[in-house]
Amino acid sequence: MQIARKQFFIISCVFELIIAAMLLYNYGYVSTERMRKVLNNRSITTVVAPLTNQTGLVPGLSAALLSMFAPLPPEAISAQYPMTTELINLGRTLYYDPRLSINQKLSCNSCHPLDHYGMDSLPTSLGHDGKPVKRNAQTVYNAAFHIAQFWDGRSPTVEEQAKGPMLSATEMGMQKADRVVRVLQSIPGYMPLFATAFPNDPNPITLDHTAQAIGTFERRLVTPSRFDRFLAGERSQLTVDEQRGLATFISVGCNSCHMGAPVGGLLYKKLGEVKPYNTQDLGRFAITGDEQDKYVFKVQSLRNIAKTAPYLHDGSIQTLAEMVIIMARHQLGKELVQSQVEDIVTFLNTLTGDLPSDYIAPPPLPQSGPNTLLSYQIN
Ligand code: HEC
Ligand code: HEC
Repeated sequence: MQIARKQFFIISCVFELIIAAMLLYNYGYVSTERMRKVLNNRSITTVVAPLTNQTGLVPGLSAALLSMFAPLPPEAISAQYPMTTELINLGRTLYYDPRLSINQKLSCNSCHPLDHYGMDSLPTSLGHDGKPVKRNAQTVYNAAFHIAQFWDGRSPTVEEQAKGPMLSATEMGMQKADRVVRVLQSIPGYMPLFATAFPNDPNPITLDHTAQAIGTFERRLVTPSRFDRFLAGERSQLTVDEQRGLATFISVGCNSCHMGAPVGGLLYKKLGEVKPYNTQDLGRFAITGDEQDKYVFKVQSLRNIAKTAPYLHDGSIQTLAEMVIIMARHQLGKELVQSQVEDIVTFLNTLTGDLPSDYIAPPPLPQSGPNTLLSYQIN
């Protein structure tokens, strides 16, 4: 009897151990399976909590590192060009007016369509004669925050820049300031608009004023995104994957050139800084004549970059993934693995901002009058 009880005790212990082991195994299996499912369809709510630390940031990110970027201000203010509602409204109208081109078919919006992130998606834009111009059109969004305008920085401000396309022989084709002024003077509705925008000027319709109004309008073409809300402290605005992409962007060294509120646009650097890149375009050399400036371009802003393909000054690169590989190779001398490329692309997508739909709504254009110069009359 004694022996039988002992045997029973031993057998039941073994049995319980087996049950416990099965339960543990099952629990482990279920939880790894569940974890795998969570990881496979990561979403902000399910994953941020377990993988970020108490600051809401993934390992590799810190508030100090993030301070090399900044949320976009609501507008790019300038001491030289104070902004008024009248100037902005005039600038918006001029931006959309194709009568500023020699054949009266191209407006600023033709090559920089505001409802398409401010660029035309062509490798190189088509000018008034339908022929491709020299370079890829940049987006006008957030451009006023840049150190200067154009790929080679040849224009200091958006106000100065706006004269370029009107006067250019290939783009809007007017070539002479006088032609722009005569066309605008011949459209009856423009005089009162210029007069209220430039109240102290007895002769308000000039090329400089035209460009100034357009530039003022551009100073508020700003597209904040989730990235700005994240920088401002709302850490859950970026998923763990997106944060990891940002950490990779920083650890690889992209931020040594693409930094600040526009994530670029603040420096000039050689395309092929570490490893030569094959391009015919001499970049800033054409402006400064300095040997050091051969193949030097403005570091482009990465705001809305997922929406502004094709890439580079010649529009030769189609995808963001290719662009990331080229940048790492030629600007940093690094070969990235596939997962790094994907991570960085994931982050770059967070820079796609909200278009200011009310601000960019096309206004009615002043009607042409009986004496308005038509394209074939402009000489
Ligand atoms: C025919 C197409 C075309 C038209 C029309 C056109 N642009 Fe552009 N724009 C371009 C191209 C191409 C570039 C880049 C040229 C370069 O860097 O040499 C550019 C560059 C710019 C930039 C520089 C952005 C930056 O990041 O540096 C601004 C701002 C701009 N254009 C505004 C305007 C405005 C304002 C108008 C109307 C007055 C206008 N554009 C008309 C094609 C055009
Ligand atoms: C040494 C400075 C430098 C570094 C580092 C750098 N870039 Fe660039 N980046 C540039 C310059 C300059 C351009 C414009 C070149 C051109 O168009 O000729 C550019 C252009 C780009 C463009 C295309 C922009 C457009 O509108 O066409 C993307 C995308 C880009 N960089 C992403 C990155 C990424 C991602 C990294 C890190 C892997 C990186 N860059 C590292 C200088 C740099």
